[in-house]
Amino acid sequence: MSVYQPLYHHATPHGVVTAVSLPETPSPVPDAVLSRLAPQEAEFAKELRGFRQVQFVGGRLALRSAAAQLGMKLPAALPDERGAPKLPPRVAGSVSHKRTIAVAMVARANGRTLGVDVEEYLPARMSIAPKILRPAELEALQALPEENQWLALVLRFSIKESIYKAIDPYVKRYVGFHEAEVDPDLEGAARVSLHLKNGEGPFEVDARYAWLEGRLLTSVRIAPTMA
Ligand SMILES: CC(C)(COP(=O)(O)OP(=O)(O)OC[C@H]1O[C@@H](n2cnc3c(N)ncnc32)[C@H](O)[C@@H]1OP(=O)(O)O)[C@@H](O)C(=O)NCCC(=O)NCCS
Repeated sequence: MSVYQPLYHHATPHGVVTAVSLPETPSPVPDAVLSRLAPQEAEFAKELRGFRQVQFVGGRLALRSAAAQLGMKLPAALPDERGAPKLPPRVAGSVSHKRTIAVAMVARANGRTLGVDVEEYLPARMSIAPKILRPAELEALQALPEENQWLALVLRFSIKESIYKAIDPYVKRYVGFHEAEVDPDLEGAARVSLHLKNGEGPFEVDARYAWLEGRLLTSVRIAPTMA
């Protein structure tokens, strides 16, 4: 399979998501690939090494390609001081990667932020559950048949990572896994209640999930609401 190429574009309720294939080895990204980025992104990428370089480039290619689906040409999206891609105010977008794939979601912002996360199906490690889940979520998980519990945990984990990315521009601090409670339905959405330790908000939080090409993709869209 050719690498650094779009694997898919999907229209989702939160925006266009594009996935880009990544090489399995951390070889330096070829100049021909770097030239598809904005010049400042390419300069930034040249300072990175190994898989970090591969993933950064894949994420930026996915961002550009998703934006192009909406008829938008992005200026250089360098990381901001907290690690998020810096985007023009009219654009909402987010990036996630795994070893051989990078995904990005892009939408018109309309006053909202986006977070996206991609997860692969890995062997179960249920011991992490208390670190990720609040007591009510743990209880809901334990009520499921044992064979369904790991996926239910990964789903909540992924939605929380998406929440982290979407809420960061508002709170600008580390948000812990116990600061959100997630209750997924069976139709690709989840109810989210925030328990932010500094009482920020209120926020309207919309969470979605889907299995796309064998991987879990979650996204969260957040807007501030009137108190
Ligand atoms: C920041 C964090 C969410 C990134 O997730 P990850 O699984 O490590 O990595 P992913 O590949 O999914 O995402 C990496 C991308 O996240 C984005 N990102 C990093 N920091 C970010 C921030 N503060 N805000 C928004 N996006 C951010 C970047 O685009 C980065 O890719 P890039 O550097 O190539 O641009 C994760 O490292 C973390 O700290 N998680 C713990 C906190 C948490 O999830 N709390 C739950 C709150 S309910």
